[in-house]
Amino acid sequence: MNWTRKHLLDIESLSADEIRVILDTTRAFKAVGERTIKKVPALRGRTVINLFVEPSTRTRISFELAAMRLNADVINFTAETSSLTKGETLLDTGKTLEALSADIIVVRHSAEGAPHLLSRVVDCSVINAGDGAHEHPTQALLDTFTMFEKKGDVSGLNVTILGDILYSRVARSDIIAFQKMGAEVVVSCPNTLLPDEWQPGSILGQQTGFENLEIARNVDEAVEGADVVMALRIQQERQEAGHLPSLREYSDRWGINSRRMAMAHDGALLMHPGPMNRGVEIDSNVADGPHSVILPQVTFGIAVRMAVMSMVAGG
Ligand code: CP
Repeated sequence: MNWTRKHLLDIESLSADEIRVILDTTRAFKAVGERTIKKVPALRGRTVINLFVEPSTRTRISFELAAMRLNADVINFTAETSSLTKGETLLDTGKTLEALSADIIVVRHSAEGAPHLLSRVVDCSVINAGDGAHEHPTQALLDTFTMFEKKGDVSGLNVTILGDILYSRVARSDIIAFQKMGAEVVVSCPNTLLPDEWQPGSILGQQTGFENLEIARNVDEAVEGADVVMALRIQQERQEAGHLPSLREYSDRWGINSRRMAMAHDGALLMHPGPMNRGVEIDSNVADGPHSVILPQVTFGIAVRMAVMSMVAGG
């Protein structure tokens, strides 16, 4: 199939074939990253601006590295020292960056839909690097790519996602991507971290917006026999907002540790999008253990972002 999209705004609107095309392109760029000279001229003469209005380590740096490896000129916008602090709107900022010759704007913003809105007012390409609790499409693509690389396929895998489902843009994008690729997805977390309308213990369709998404009340049952276990970050503010009695209790009841990991399938992958709270949602002995593919996830993110940027730029 031919790729015709100018923006990458979410996973929801992508077809399974489009996801496969991105992953195929990612494979080619992964090979580039394994060479001594890791650069190709795909975006030579183009300008990429990273417009991050929320903190980020891995997403911002891997977009920057990916753009550099494609030979683009890269500018990192710093929100704290920009005219956003003087009241300039995101849309005016985006239009200003385009007037300064941006070909691709990579946006991270706390407001859901911010990249979608920006894509309607600028002519250049917009890539969503995480918008509020909505979506984080390149994270889902790199997570899916990691599963293909480490397991050979995603179709038929049992994937268990543990953690803050309610507020997690990664959970939302991952569930959509994994299901589109044919995985069986189970989520498990305290009821307070599930959307109100999701009922534990049921196979849900309409209510969650996800076909055949299983909500497991018991975390041990959710992990048993899983091919992939993904832990999501528990944010400190969840406890402060009364969603959790204590981080210690979350760790005991829902955290992934060596006892729980031993219940998963032999050769199961342990994934985490980062940043991790060691000792809360994940114990150090499994985060650094033989099942963990947390650092390969980060590395694969560069090739995924090279693929996405070259594709939206028409490469
Ligand atoms: N996974 C992720 O989005 O990490 P950063 O917030 O460090 O970019």
